[in-house]
Amino acid sequence: MENVELIETCLDNVFILELDGSKKLVTKNLVPGIQVYGEKLVKVGNDEYRLWDPNRSKLAAIILKGSSISLKKSCSVLYLGAANGTTASHVSDIVSLGAVFAVEFSPRAMHDLIRASIPRLNLIPILSDAMHPNSYRNMVSQVDFLYQDIAQREQARIALRNAELFLKKNGILVLIIKSRSIDSARKSKEVIDNEVNKLEGFFKVMELIDLEPYHSDHMAVVAQKIGPCSPV
Ligand SMILES: C[S@@+](CC[C@H](N)C(=O)[O-])C[C@H]1O[C@@H](n2cnc3c(N)ncnc32)[C@H](O)[C@@H]1O
Repeated sequence: MENVELIETCLDNVFILELDGSKKLVTKNLVPGIQVYGEKLVKVGNDEYRLWDPNRSKLAAIILKGSSISLKKSCSVLYLGAANGTTASHVSDIVSLGAVFAVEFSPRAMHDLIRASIPRLNLIPILSDAMHPNSYRNMVSQVDFLYQDIAQREQARIALRNAELFLKKNGILVLIIKSRSIDSARKSKEVIDNEVNKLEGFFKVMELIDLEPYHSDHMAVVAQKIGPCSPV
């Protein structure tokens, strides 16, 4: 029998689990008994928890770096760049009474994402290009939280387009910027400042989080929507 202790965080269904002296980030499994990508499952009392590796998930890294983002179980989330569902499945655990609209444009990744979504009724896979949010306008409701992790140029522009259509006023944007995907020749700080400046007037930037040592050359921007995000 493993010796475990659970410590609450400011996100619903997210805990630090102390397992035989070492601390691990976990989410309470919405679908007990089912793994999504081979992650370890740990049973504590009547509940089951999924280990959440910050080296595989930038959102896990953001939480472990001490971000103050809070995500409640009734929230709805628009997730851009859901890939095969690694992080999106943990978001589905968190918003157990809400919904995750998971947009991904790679058919190969979508195959795994659909498989992950079958037992998870709150995870809605959408095969679309996040550059063209009008193409999924009829499938997505107004959301509390916009999470964007797509290695593309024009990241701020994509976030603004989606926020204009789907993010509620005062809703939270988490934008992952990989500076090298935007411009490999320019200095990282310059690239990130340039993207952050594009949010000005539409968002109040609350946190800038360097994802080292979990993800090198990545920055997370946490911002709150303060007004309409005019299409650009
Ligand atoms: C870094 S991976 C995302 C990893 C994922 N967020 C996770 O933590 O499990 C970036 C993903 O964004 C997708 N992507 C890139 N550009 C996109 C676009 N314009 N629309 C939708 N998906 C896009 C890629 O196919 C890729 O799967």
